[in-house]
Amino acid sequence: MIAPFFLLAIALFILVWLGITDKAMRVLAERAGHPYHARGPRLARITVGVIIVLIAGYMLAPREWSEPPPPMVATYGPDSLWMGMDTTLIDRIGGEREDLVAYGRELIRNTAYYLGPQGTVAHLTNGMNCQNCHLEAGTKPWGNNYSAVWSTYPKFRERSGGNETVVKRINDCIERSLNGTALDSSSLEMRSLLAYMEWLGTGIPKGKKPKGVGLAELLFMDRPADPVHGEAIYTAKCERCHQKDGAGQKAADATTYLYPPLWGEHSYNIGAGLYRLGRFAGYVKNNMPQGASWEAPQLTDEEAWDVAAFVNSQQRPMRDLSSDWPRIAAKPVDHPFGPYADAFTEEQHKFGPFGPIAALNKK
Ligand code: HEC
Ligand code: HEC
Repeated sequence: MIAPFFLLAIALFILVWLGITDKAMRVLAERAGHPYHARGPRLARITVGVIIVLIAGYMLAPREWSEPPPPMVATYGPDSLWMGMDTTLIDRIGGEREDLVAYGRELIRNTAYYLGPQGTVAHLTNGMNCQNCHLEAGTKPWGNNYSAVWSTYPKFRERSGGNETVVKRINDCIERSLNGTALDSSSLEMRSLLAYMEWLGTGIPKGKKPKGVGLAELLFMDRPADPVHGEAIYTAKCERCHQKDGAGQKAADATTYLYPPLWGEHSYNIGAGLYRLGRFAGYVKNNMPQGASWEAPQLTDEEAWDVAAFVNSQQRPMRDLSSDWPRIAAKPVDHPFGPYADAFTEEQHKFGPFGPIAALNKK
């Protein structure tokens, strides 16, 4: 931007200088009694004026007129952490795809506004936003991000015992984490969510998972997670936002939450990923209390496990899980509902210690 400013300044200077010399020539010519020919100087001034307009126009024109759009590449390398895509690139996508990606991102951030109990599009979900659990619109390292969705689906999942598309996986979260009703696969909303996930997966090769994907897996403790210790942590570190009754706190406009609920009728149901202790502890460790991150966690692993045990011991919506995990030997160690292929109790599958179960599964 320095060069055009410099040129503009020179052009303005020349214009002023032409004006002054023109006036001086005219005065001199009149004093000497000669006729003064103003055409030449006027032409020069018009030329310089046009140049000034061109330079100013160049400086004011939108940048993409003069610069080619940046290539659509992901901002991660194989060894660096995936930090999401540059959202200013969304404006450069163009056409229908740009609208879909932008709306998909908006739906992740403000799900309740469109699909919640008072949703403007439909009433399908419990009032939470996808972003409450998939932080920063699904782009935060170890903040349950979507980096590997496009590169790893469709894939076989043991929970359903079948091949799952992205549509199925999204509806899983709608039916479980948002305790709601599935979105039609041809709806504008579903197509937009898919477009956003695809865009987020730009540059990630098929089958690959970037570093920082999803949630961290914490090391198992040697003891069961302790809900009584967890309650003390909850009171000290969570209650001021999520409230004593776990119901969270509504935002001023009442359509969405300032602090989402952790249990009770408006929370995720017993079939949700967070209902498994390992997923909850992994989420909380790197993301809660609000402001925590993988670089600056605020809880020890033990605190994360114990607060998970407390929160997931409270009342929440039920769900029929009888057709989940059709191959019972494939149940994760922390799936808290039998029957199991091993002899450990539901209690141990819920609170741990998980080490012995994992060791047996390995054999
Ligand atoms: C209450 C928390 C919560 C909410 C709200 C939530 N999710 Fe999830 N979601 C999870 C958890 C936890 C997982 C990971 C489960 C696992 O790893 O087993 C997950 C996984 C996913 C995945 C698969 C990610 C992968 O890499 O395999 C997709 C896609 C997804 N969610 C989409 C959504 C969408 C879209 C919404 C909103 C309509 C949403 N989720 C709302 C908790 C939530
Ligand atoms: C300063 C306020 C604050 C504190 C303290 C806090 N949270 Fe949160 N929590 C939030 C907000 C805000 C979100 C939603 C994040 C978003 O939408 O970006 C959230 C989301 C969550 C979620 C996922 C969404 C849901 O409702 O299920 C869980 C689980 C959670 N917090 C657990 C905890 C635990 C456990 C603690 C204590 C160790 C804690 N939080 C402390 C503000 C807070």
